[in-house]
Formats: sequence, C-alpha cells, structure tokens
Amino acid sequence: MGKLALTGGAPVVAGPLGAAWPVYDERDEELLRDVLHSRSWTRSKFQDAESWVWRFEDAFAEFQDARHGVAVATGSIGMELALKAVGVEPGDEVIIPAATWITVATAVIAVGAAPVFVDIDPGTYNIDADKVEAAITPRTRAVMCVHNGGMPADMDALRELVDRHGIALVGDCAHAHGSQWRGRGVGAIEDAGAFSFQGSKVVALGEGGMVLTDRDDVQERLFGLHHVNGANGRPKPERSLPATNLRMTEWIGALGLAAMARLPEQVALREANARRLMAGLAEIPGVEGLTWDPRVTRWSFYIWHWRFIGAEFDGIQRDTFLAALKAEGVPASTGQTAPLYRNPVLTDMDCGRTNYPFNAQVYGQALDYRGFHCPETERIAATEALSFSHPLFLGPPEHMDLVLDAVRKIREHVAELHAWEVTQAGA
Ligand SMILES: Cc1ncc(COP(=O)(O)O)c(C=O)c1O
Repeated sequence: MGKLALTGGAPVVAGPLGAAWPVYDERDEELLRDVLHSRSWTRSKFQDAESWVWRFEDAFAEFQDARHGVAVATGSIGMELALKAVGVEPGDEVIIPAATWITVATAVIAVGAAPVFVDIDPGTYNIDADKVEAAITPRTRAVMCVHNGGMPADMDALRELVDRHGIALVGDCAHAHGSQWRGRGVGAIEDAGAFSFQGSKVVALGEGGMVLTDRDDVQERLFGLHHVNGANGRPKPERSLPATNLRMTEWIGALGLAAMARLPEQVALREANARRLMAGLAEIPGVEGLTWDPRVTRWSFYIWHWRFIGAEFDGIQRDTFLAALKAEGVPASTGQTAPLYRNPVLTDMDCGRTNYPFNAQVYGQALDYRGFHCPETERIAATEALSFSHPLFLGPPEHMDLVLDAVRKIREHVAELHAWEVTQAGA
C-alpha cells in the first residue's frame, strides 16, 4: 500500500469541496410566486416594464456594461440569433476556435454558414488572435470568439482585426458572466455577445440565454427575430423579418432577477479563491494557471482551466496525474479543450437528403474537416489541460489550500505515481 490515495493511501480531502450548485433563496421563491399569481407567464402579456424578463434583460445588460439585452430560450439559440443579427447568411464563413463546445460550430451551421477553425492560444486556451487573419477569406462574415472557461479572448486584437476587414465580432460568453476586459463586460465589447443560463452555468436558471449588444440596429434585429409578434415598448425592425419564437418565459426571467442579486458577490469570491490557488500552484513545479493578462480586469469563470507540464513533473502523463488528483478527493477534469473538428457532426457531415448546409451549392466548394489539424489544440487536449468547475471556488479559502495540499502530495510522491503508471501501461 502506498501513500497516494491512488495506491491505497488516505485521501487528502475527505468531504465535498466548494459549494453545492445551483443555489437559491427566499427571493427566488417570492418572485416565482409573483409570476404564478400574475397569470401572465409570457412576456407578450405585458407592457414591457412590468415583465420579469424585461427587468432581467435590463439588469443583466447593465451588469455587463451593455446598452441592450435580449433574453432567449438557450445560449445556443442566442449564438444563432447573434450571428443572424450581425448579418451572417448561408454561404458565409464564420471563424471560431478549434477547442470549444459543439454548439459553437452547430450554431454556425444552423444559420447556413461554414465554421472555419483556428487554433487556440496556449496561454489562455482562447482563439489565437494572431492566427485569425490567415483564416479570413472573401467569404468571411464574422469571427465568433469564445471566452473559454470565462477567460476573455484578446478583445483588442480581435476588434482591430474585424474592423480592418469590415466583418463582425460575435462573442460566445456562455462561460463569462461577470468577466471584464479593460474594465468593460464581455458581450458588450463584441457586436453581439451570447450568454447561457443553462442549469450548471454561473447564472443557472435551468435553461435560458441572453444576447447583449451596444448597437441599436443589432438590438432591433435580435428582438424582431426572437419574437414573432413584436412587443409593446420595443422598437420594431423597419423590414419584416422571418422571425420565430425564441422567447424566455417569465419564470426564468424571475429566477434571473433573483440570481442577479447574488452574482457580484459570487464573482468576487471565485476570483479571490482563484488568485489564492494560482499563487499556490506557481510554487509547485509542473503545474500552473493560465496566463492572466492584466487587461482581464475581472476574471469570472465557469470552467477554471489550468496546465499540467509533464516534462516538469518527472515525465508523468497528464491523465495519470488527473487520476491521482481525483483519488485524493479533488474533482477535476480536462475542461473544454477537445478538438471540435473531430466531433462526428463535423467528420460525418450528414445533414440529410440535400446535405444542406454542407453541400457545395451553398459554399461553392465541398467542405471536409477530416484532415484538419490544429497542433496546439491537439497537444493541449492530449497532454496538458486540466480544469475545475466554478462551484469549487465558492467555498472557504481553506478549500483552495486542500487542493494545493493534494497537488503537493502527488508531487512529493511522484516516484510512487511513476511506478503506478508503469503497472497501468503493462496491464
Ligand atoms: C462554450 C459554450 N457555448 C454555448 C453553450 C450553450 O449553452 P446552452 O446549453 O444554454 O445552449 C455552452 C453550454 O455548455 C457552452 O459551454
């Protein structure tokens, strides 16, 4: 029996770390009761200012420093809407990061456009702004960056690039409620930025999303496209748009308002704990946090990615280290780093009889992602990436110290871990 929990020793962490998620309090119950008694459970029943959804839109947009917010049914729908609202149409290309969630690609496909993958930056795990320009073609209509985990992408470089090329910048902000770049909320900096309120997110409402924008023309299109009847008090687009109904219910709007009262404190607590963890990791060879650019003035996060450097950890494999960490009672994973172009949606490209939008009629050329390769994405996904989920950071600071104790213990018993790895390889 060894010292490591993986080899039969006692784990460092005996109980749960962080906080249970999602949370709620009396205010949620009160607001839900108010919605119930109103008998008006959809925003179209209201003069806007009376609607819980309207109030949530205003509160969330203000929190992220945006002039407008349009609440929708899910974050993925929000991305589709954002792309349409900035003018992406069938046959266009949209540049996205190679490592992220599948609906980033399927949102592009759903509007009839082609996803074009760009490798990620090893410092931040976000789209590598230096590699975007080479991917721009005459068909490119937008860059959709993802603030991966919640770490803002390089907004200065991306904004300069899209403006120079006359294309749009869309943000997938599903992980980044509260994150700021140079003191400004993400989502407000892009032409349109889509957030998710799915049940595990930093604002967890079961389902839901919101698209933020500072542009009046984009707001008009977003609102018109998400609500087929239009609404009292909101501007109607000049042209009739082929809209559908993607609205958020008043129930979710009420939960959103209640969540807003807790959000600033949660963001501050997560960030303080992340700083403590990062400082501790910096003293242990072979592990480190992501690069925290000083322009990231607030780092809120859904997934906290960090790095394992096997060469500095006695040649141990990342997956071996991960197994040892979990055995010590620390819940960890590899986050959202898998190469998206390997997803069967992209490799099979089977969309039915006409195969729209993968067919050559739309793009003028057949699409084929099967030979695609982004070296940094592949390396990071296979050997380096580690992650913690955001509720871990809602506990007391001592929970960060326990995580660090676990990492230090593994480091101290690396020879034992090596021996375990060898037995596993032989098994
Ligand atoms: C990066 C990213 N974008 C978009 C979404 C989609 O959000 P939703 O589940 O609300 O559609 C998710 C969900 O996990 C995500 O991780």
